[in-house]
Amino acid sequence: MKIRIVGGRIVDPGNNRDEIADILIVDGKIVGAGEAVQPDLLIDARGKIVIPGLIDMHTHLREPGREDEETIYTGSIAGVAGGFTTLVCMANTTPPVDNGGLVRFILEAKKEATVLPVGAITKSRMGKELAEIGDMVEAGAVAISDDGDPVLDSGIMRRALEYAKIFDIPVISHAEDKRLSGRGVVNEGVVALKLGLPGIPSIAEDIMVARDIYLAKYTGGRVHFAHVSTEGAVSLIREAKAEGVKVTAEVTPHHLIFTEEDVLANPYDTNYKVNPPLRTERDRVALIEALKDGTIDVIATDHAPHASFEKELQFIDAPFGIIGLETALPVLVDKLVNTGELDWITFIAKLTVNPAKILGLDKGWLKEGESAELVVFDPEAEWVFDSPRSLSRNSPFLGKRLKGKVLYTIVGEKVWDFTGE
Ligand code: DOR
Repeated sequence: MKIRIVGGRIVDPGNNRDEIADILIVDGKIVGAGEAVQPDLLIDARGKIVIPGLIDMHTHLREPGREDEETIYTGSIAGVAGGFTTLVCMANTTPPVDNGGLVRFILEAKKEATVLPVGAITKSRMGKELAEIGDMVEAGAVAISDDGDPVLDSGIMRRALEYAKIFDIPVISHAEDKRLSGRGVVNEGVVALKLGLPGIPSIAEDIMVARDIYLAKYTGGRVHFAHVSTEGAVSLIREAKAEGVKVTAEVTPHHLIFTEEDVLANPYDTNYKVNPPLRTERDRVALIEALKDGTIDVIATDHAPHASFEKELQFIDAPFGIIGLETALPVLVDKLVNTGELDWITFIAKLTVNPAKILGLDKGWLKEGESAELVVFDPEAEWVFDSPRSLSRNSPFLGKRLKGKVLYTIVGEKVWDFTGE
């Protein structure tokens, strides 16, 4: 099978490449441009963007335990439809992924994208006792995290960083001081007051970011901050990086696009309830600045599927989280790249080579002679996000018209054609 992709703009930060060129794929491998070859499939990519398959280093697939919300398989399909060919899944399943057996279960499950498990930091994610970190790494865990919850005990976090250092994996920190966030459901401030909802102060995040930076510095371990949402956290991470502390960070699409004003504009709509909460415009601007200057390395979806019967509860009772795999690329291109806030190379690096580097993965760029993993994206196509491939529907974009669409995702010999939708 020969596929030629002609006339597309190739944006491939790992190869420092941003140019219009053709690509030839033969039997699932990229073999160059291939002018003279008569292909079985010709993809006219003029006006389209051709990028390496994206890596989402923060996804919640609910298997095992909540297969009604998402399975490894359905999550992988949602990923492929959104341009993500590698998903790194968090350990807050039921039971949590806190041993090598469950890591292997995820690696061996049926799927259409690469799915790499994160192991829990502590047994059952209870924050009391370290999990079998060596066992999980040996089985294939690429990082450890109790994401969904912080590790409140500084002594345990210290040991986690020390162990992770031995295996050269990052500890992913869900930075939230639960004693400060309490029963909060939105950002603490005017909006919380207007809606009469309990607030989560920015300090709940900042204080834990500061603690984990100190612990990383002390231990020499690597800390990666999940879903950074505050200006304060950004400043701390920027300073720590300048000092040479081994710290990296990610931001979600929703924290880059929405603020607490969107919670106010959509009162009691639980599709705006996320943890950490949507913050202020000032925070949002700081997050974009941090992407530009390299303080934030990665954009990760924090795809968090939840069943409708749970998400449709009162705002205060509904679970935190929204799905993001199928909408991340279109909404970010529309709101940040097409507006000129981020250039294509910086933007795609945050979704490919940067997460790959943090996780020690040898992927995230277009490699000649190797199995193809790439996406053809139309930044102008308009479509309505009305039938998610995810098993869950908790998205603020559900039913909305979006600009920008994945047309093809190619993984080796498999070609996903989304042009007819
Ligand atoms: O919004 C969120 N949802 N934030 C988290 O930290 C956890 C996630 C989930 O698992 O639903």
